[in-house]
Amino acid sequence: MVDKPKVVLGVSGGIAAYKACELLRRLTESGHDVRVVPTAASLNFVGEATWSALSGNPASTEVWESVHEVPHVRIGQSADLVVVAPATADLLAKAAHGLADDLLTNTLLTARCPVVFAPAMHTEMWEHPATQENVATLRRRGALVIEPAVGRLTGKDTGKGRLPDPEEIFEVCRRVLARGVTEPDLAGRHVVISAGGTREPLDPVRFLGNRSSGKQGYALARTAVARGARVTLVAANTALADPAGVDVVRVGTAVQLREAVLKAAADADAVVMAAAVADFRPAEYAGGKIKKKDGQDPAPVALVRNPDVLAEISADRARVGQVVVGFAAETDDVLANGRAKLARKGCDLLVVNEVGESRTFGSEENEAVVLASDGSETPVPYGPKEALAEVIWDQVAVRL
Ligand SMILES: Cc1cc2nc3c(=O)[nH]c(=O)nc-3n(C[C@H](O)[C@H](O)[C@H](O)COP(=O)(O)O)c2cc1C
Repeated sequence: MVDKPKVVLGVSGGIAAYKACELLRRLTESGHDVRVVPTAASLNFVGEATWSALSGNPASTEVWESVHEVPHVRIGQSADLVVVAPATADLLAKAAHGLADDLLTNTLLTARCPVVFAPAMHTEMWEHPATQENVATLRRRGALVIEPAVGRLTGKDTGKGRLPDPEEIFEVCRRVLARGVTEPDLAGRHVVISAGGTREPLDPVRFLGNRSSGKQGYALARTAVARGARVTLVAANTALADPAGVDVVRVGTAVQLREAVLKAAADADAVVMAAAVADFRPAEYAGGKIKKKDGQDPAPVALVRNPDVLAEISADRARVGQVVVGFAAETDDVLANGRAKLARKGCDLLVVNEVGESRTFGSEENEAVVLASDGSETPVPYGPKEALAEVIWDQVAVRL
């Protein structure tokens, strides 16, 4: 029997501690052996009994319990992953400075496995230079610090500082564990990803759209976060949960997508255009709903070309060395069309996949070939969109 991966769930004293119960559930139910290490302050929010009962393991805060087992060293040493959720401003400061005055901070010093922090606090605390410097220190040392989400905070106020959904923190943990490397290879990199499909309005109720669900782009965003990148996701008409640690910019049309991608790409190390951007849009937008008229055929819809965002960012790179990746969804002559598109667009990598009404769009799987401007071709067999995303980041990482 294979041993279950050992996860330490550190919980510090933020109001979001209750969300860690859900994260614990997800971890245990997916076959992980979880040891919860709460701080003393966090027990004001969720009690020790909850952690012990849900994890099936003792949950102590101090180094002075079960001393014969030397828990202050043993727990960190034997962990495959340490995740701290929520991580308070105080806990981040202690971790950055190497303090060790309770069991969690001792564990952080003895762990040699990947460490993930999911900070949660009021916007002022998060933006304070002290916190930002502590976060930068932890990232420089190889920890993965997930950007907090924007939304409702403890009181009535809203802003950046919210703990991402436990399900999404779990997704980060799952990917970090699967990769099993302590140093995130995209740390310090900003990547921009477009996802979904644009909608080009014809009148207030109708649009010209496509079948893209955004799942491939979201898989790229989730895997990039787990590899340490700062991620901006330009999402066109998607109905998917915001991935943890991702700055999501919502757009509708190709013109809006172009604007958002160009803005985000200004300081990006890589841009991956996974969205299905409409080539054409209706030439005229009818301000009122187009009515059918008795005995008359409908007027034909004239189309005009949309901007070619991939060609534009490939030709006019915002930064020297910026890596640009395109996608080609083809129905016929997939590879030949892909090679021609790579040459035409001038991007570094082109991910070519075959699409159809019930193929690729909306599904959890994909099969593709990653074509590179240096002539190399990397076939990616049929499998989860996440696996294709990892191959794309591998290819991007070697070019950065
Ligand atoms: C109701 C309440 C909510 C709090 N929420 C947070 C929070 O979300 N994030 C944070 O950094 N601190 C928060 N604090 C402050 C921490 O509890 C305090 O800094 C404590 O010393 C943290 O200890 P620890 O890091 O050892 O858990 C909150 C305090 C109270 C009373």
